[in-house]
Amino acid sequence: MSETPAEAVDDFRPSAENEMEPTRGTRRAGGTERDLVVVSNREPYQHGYDADGGVVVDEPVGGLTAGLDPVVQRTGGDWVAWGDGEADAVVTDEDDCVAVPPDDERYTLRRVWLTDDEVTDYYYGYSNRVLWPLCHDLVGRVEVEPRYWETYESVNESFGEAAAERATEDSTVWIQDYHFCLAPKTIRESLPEGANTVQFWHIPWPSWETFRVVPHAGELVEGLLANDLLGFHVERYRDNFLDCAAALDGTRVDREAGVVHVDGRTVRVGAFPMGVDAERIASTAANFDQHAWAHLAGTYGIDPNVAVAVGVDRLDYTKGIPERIGALERFWEDHPEWRGELTFVQKSSHSRSRIPAYERIAEEVTAAVDRVNDRFGTATWQPIVHVDDHLDQRELYGLYRHSDLALVSPLKDGMNLVAKEYAAAQVDDDGVLLLSEFAGAHEELDEAVQINPHSRDGFATAIHRALSMSTVERRRRMRSLRERVRDNDLDAWVTDVLDAASRDPEALRAGGRDV
Ligand code: G6P
Repeated sequence: MSETPAEAVDDFRPSAENEMEPTRGTRRAGGTERDLVVVSNREPYQHGYDADGGVVVDEPVGGLTAGLDPVVQRTGGDWVAWGDGEADAVVTDEDDCVAVPPDDERYTLRRVWLTDDEVTDYYYGYSNRVLWPLCHDLVGRVEVEPRYWETYESVNESFGEAAAERATEDSTVWIQDYHFCLAPKTIRESLPEGANTVQFWHIPWPSWETFRVVPHAGELVEGLLANDLLGFHVERYRDNFLDCAAALDGTRVDREAGVVHVDGRTVRVGAFPMGVDAERIASTAANFDQHAWAHLAGTYGIDPNVAVAVGVDRLDYTKGIPERIGALERFWEDHPEWRGELTFVQKSSHSRSRIPAYERIAEEVTAAVDRVNDRFGTATWQPIVHVDDHLDQRELYGLYRHSDLALVSPLKDGMNLVAKEYAAAQVDDDGVLLLSEFAGAHEELDEAVQINPHSRDGFATAIHRALSMSTVERRRRMRSLRERVRDNDLDAWVTDVLDAASRDPEALRAGGRDV
């Protein structure tokens, strides 16, 4: 199983259908008239080599890059990202740019090159050994190293400079995620007059008590306050951020208006729950009929006639996969009548494997799967099928559609788009979503069966309850979930964020809208 951005399946994928001519400066996704310059760590297209030495391109499959790619395809503009593909440098021009998608050029991908040490200290180090665990409230996993911070600073500067170079006075620079707390400062220093910056924070934001644990907490918050608008998935994260901003000298926070006054500027801070491309997921799932499902199930030894539960995750310690397998074990212990009648399919993708904690979680999941299969498996039934092959879009949404339950049980998650994808794919309205109360998505998806991933017994009982639910109740719950996911889809999110970005902070205060 390889580790590629295309395997980061905890989010979703691009819409090929949203076809509109990309015309710089006209448009657009959110009703504003601005060019987009997206900045993210992961690149939307990665160039590599095939077995014969030919250059091939990996298209985005999951993650936030896959979600934003159709948006930038539609608007045109620029995308600044780390060029980590083997053949990335071969296809870029003297400005480190390449037009993408390769067969239908719609926007410019500007690649930023990182040395091995930078990758170690900025990506594996500060981003994923400090900020990731910190923001998921796992302070014990934080590993502070001075060189991680120094490199995070310098890499943020390089990204910031690259983004500012691509911006015009009509641009909105849209920065993604925790890899770039300090880049907004660099961007602001050389941003053309009239341009603005927005940052969306895709992971949770913890309380100030937790956040202040890291030595550079104040600088991180200050860095983010160099944006014009800062977005979080849910109000709790936004409120936590406002508490952190209030703890700094020289800031004034107006919680009601959702603004921070700093350095004579007004920074807006809002909650914008991200959505998925529900229409495309539904139509892809609808086309994956019983015949296609029987074929896919056969490939992995799943009996299509028994109930199926599904889990889809990157192999990350925040996702609660061992806890989920423990709950299934308890379920089969307590309900032997379900042995041979329910198969759990865990689709996993390797992630950040150079970090020992990630290597360990992958081993732990394999060991847990083997334990349960050894304990309950029979000649004709494998309780857990662990899929680590790459599934394409059709297969993934088909698997969602034909699964009777989805077990989405993160210990903590900014949003968790698998929960929304599953609901979007339930075109027959007959599946049940079990959702951790610690996922951001939980705040919106009331009709899911709520679980606490730490309670093995409670989780096992919830699985039984979901499997025993009446058809009427299942349909009622899933219909509402599906409607909510459709009404608050990816386009609605982009529109909300970019509309808020184009609004004058004073008008916003007068209008009283809660961004
Ligand atoms: C989370 C983060 C994204 C990240 C993704 C995959 O969803 O919010 O920013 O891209 O995980 O992780 P990776 O480290 O492979 O990019």
